[in-house]
Parts: sequence; C-alpha cells; structure tokens
Amino acid sequence: MANSQIVGTLDSWEANAAFWDAGMGANGNEYWNLLQKPYLQKLIPVDEEHPERTRILDLATGNGMASRFLARRGASLVATDGSKEMLKYCRQRCAEEGATGMQFQELDVTKPEDFESLLASPLAVGGFDVVLINMAIMDIETLEPLADALPKLLKPNGMCVNGSWDCVVALMLRN
Ligand SMILES: C[S@@+](CC[C@H](N)C(=O)[O-])C[C@H]1O[C@@H](n2cnc3c(N)ncnc32)[C@H](O)[C@@H]1O
Repeated sequence: MANSQIVGTLDSWEANAAFWDAGMGANGNEYWNLLQKPYLQKLIPVDEEHPERTRILDLATGNGMASRFLARRGASLVATDGSKEMLKYCRQRCAEEGATGMQFQELDVTKPEDFESLLASPLAVGGFDVVLINMAIMDIETLEPLADALPKLLKPNGMCVNGSWDCVVALMLRN
C-alpha cells in the first residue's frame, strides 16, 4: 500500500506489517519477553490435564506472538487481526514453528459485522475461556463493538485480558 493511501490506524498496520514482523521476529522484543510474557503466563490459566480444552480468542494478533506462546502451552487459539498482511505473517510464523491448535480469521474489532460473522461461524461454537487483546487497544478508534461482542464470545467465567503499555489486566466478564 502506498503511503498516500493510508487513512486510518489499520491501514498503517497493513502498510507496515513487514516492518513489524521483522522487528519482532519469532521471539519478540525485550518488552514482550521481560514484561508481557510473564504476566500473560500468570494471568491466563491453561487446563493442565487437557490444555486443548482452553479456548482463546486473540484479537489483533499481529505476527501471532501471544497466540504462538499460548499454543506452545497447549491451548487452542483463534488468531485474528484486521490486517490481511499481518495475518499472513502470523500464519507464516505459526507454520515455521509448527504451532498446532491454531485457527485464523480476519477480524476488524471496530466492525460489529466482523464479530457477528465470527459468532456465526464454527470457530466460536462453545465460546472462549479467554479473549485476549495485547498491545492494540490503545490504537483502536472505537471499543463499542468489542464491548458488545464480549459477553457473547466468552464462556461463563470467561475473561478478557488486555495487555497495554503500562499494564496487563484481566477482567472477569461472565459468570
Ligand atoms: C502492536 S501490534 C500487536 C500485535 C500482537 N497482539 C502482539 O502483542 O505482538 C497491533 C496490532 O493491532 C492490529 N490492529 C490495529 N487495529 C485493528 C483493528 N481495528 N482490528 C483488528 N486488529 C487491529 C494491527 O494490525 C496489529 O497487528
């Protein structure tokens, strides 16, 4: 995409997906490794006996850093991003790593219709234990579609985990 065609946040991610993927590489930067990964490890419980039964929806997955980390723990992941290019890098990184238990879907979190089509698809059947959005919420123009979709996406006792610049927080949203 030419710079002159960039009109919104997602367009700039689409145009800079290769740069982001090259910068983060397979294993992430110091920020990811020293801060976010340990907190996501603590906050997101994965069923020890049947890890594949822990179902996680990763929104704005980028090159799949958090998804691949959670897939290595055995969880089942649906990795989504609003950028086609970014999702392409995510798929590539997953394939290189031999990540199993991964499914992929293009999803722009500002679009209610994208949540509706995910909810109507086999990917969302049974709901998710965790909806994760890591290092993306601060860029997103509106959070209303996400707020409306969360109760439908989550299983009872499911939680939403948000990793941002200064914190990683989990909110229990359904009981
Ligand atoms: C800083 S990267 C974070 C990637 C990943 N979650 C991580 O922790 O490495 C931000 C991501 O948000 C995605 N994004 C931005 N706006 C979005 C939107 N409206 N819907 C879905 N994804 C979006 C971008 O395409 C990009 O992959």
